Amino acid sequence: MTTYAHITGWGMHVPNKILTNAEISKMVDTSDEWIQERSGIKTRRIAGKEDTSASMGAEAAFNALKMAQIHPRDLDLVIVSTSTPEHMFPSTASIVQNQIGAVNAGAFDISAACTGFIFALDMATQAIRSGSIKSAIVIGTETLSRIIDWTDRGTCMLFGDGAGAFVLQASEKPGGVISSIMRSDGSGADLLSVPAGGSAQPASADTIAQGLHFVQMKGREVFRFATRVMAKASQEAIDKAGLKIEDISIFIPHQANKRIIEAAARGLKLPIERFVMNVDKYGNTSTASIPIATVEAFEFGKLNKGDNVVMVGFGSGLTWGAVSLIWTGPLDAEKPVRFGLLSIFVGIRSFLRKLIRWIEGLIWGRWIPK
Ligand code: ACO
Repeated sequence: MTTYAHITGWGMHVPNKILTNAEISKMVDTSDEWIQERSGIKTRRIAGKEDTSASMGAEAAFNALKMAQIHPRDLDLVIVSTSTPEHMFPSTASIVQNQIGAVNAGAFDISAACTGFIFALDMATQAIRSGSIKSAIVIGTETLSRIIDWTDRGTCMLFGDGAGAFVLQASEKPGGVISSIMRSDGSGADLLSVPAGGSAQPASADTIAQGLHFVQMKGREVFRFATRVMAKASQEAIDKAGLKIEDISIFIPHQANKRIIEAAARGLKLPIERFVMNVDKYGNTSTASIPIATVEAFEFGKLNKGDNVVMVGFGSGLTWGAVSLIWTGPLDAEKPVRFGLLSIFVGIRSFLRKLIRWIEGLIWGRWIPK
């Protein structure tokens, strides 16, 4: 009997603080007009002192679990994709696993930059389809504002913070993730990186003085790479699923730049309306962008039961990948979960954690854009 991996719950969380282009143009030599014309971005969200990749990931995860009607203790696996982990180790996934109370789950991080969510989705799917596990949560979460050089006009206007999550569950009903492709080309590793803070260049006063713990990007080259791979990866995933391009109702691409998404649409000879786009609101939230765009597509009625969907991403590494899936929505829950008490408990825990981080921020301070 074939087992399928269905996406049965989805959730997102973004911090409250909205940073506008007008505010950025007071920090660096740029303008709202330039940013909108070159990237399509109008605003992005910036983490507050109390927000971290784990805290935002846990909020998104909890929303996805509520949607799927699955209790955290019934999860078998927690995968977090992030380029802004809480620490070098332990994994952010283990911290989220504890925060949401997924007491019977294994947990690990995936590092594949903006493509990470696609790779994590594939890993969870394969684990479910092999029969190894029955349920998983895949979370993409970023606090990119903490690794941005806010004096670099070439990068600071692009990125934002936030998190998104999918619950995946096994079912014998056909549907869910049907095909995926994962690719990498490490010869382009220097095009987009945070050079210091790892084993190659451990953090030191010197690396900090040189700003090597901030994102360094060759924007033009990344742009060229992205426009080359987006349409190709989508087509490969569609072919692998045994589908035709006209079967696909909606494309959910990584939200990096409006012009990159438009180029992908041109490459696939499709109208731009078939592509979900919210880069204007959130900027590039890296690995969180695809699940956040998915949640909004569903809320705005662009994603319906039975739709064939393609999700496609690219990023540092270089990496790129795509999945083709059938959108099925929550499975019929055998036993509805009572989230009332659980919500109150998680809410109180989350409030206390934020309070502690806020107090820590007051004592030690943490630089964030005003
Ligand atoms: N405001 C005004 N001028 C600027 C700004 C700015 N914010 N940033 C750069 N410029 C200038 C440059 O200095 C350059 O000036 P010059 O010609 O005198 O040298 C000029 O504008 C043009 O620069 P380009 O880099 O060619 O501009 P481009 O049209 O390529 O747009 C951008 C820049 C938006 C960064 C684009 O290259 C891009 O989106 N690249 C892809 C980035 C990306 O997607 N990164 C994330 C990958 S996913 C991940 O893994 C996180």
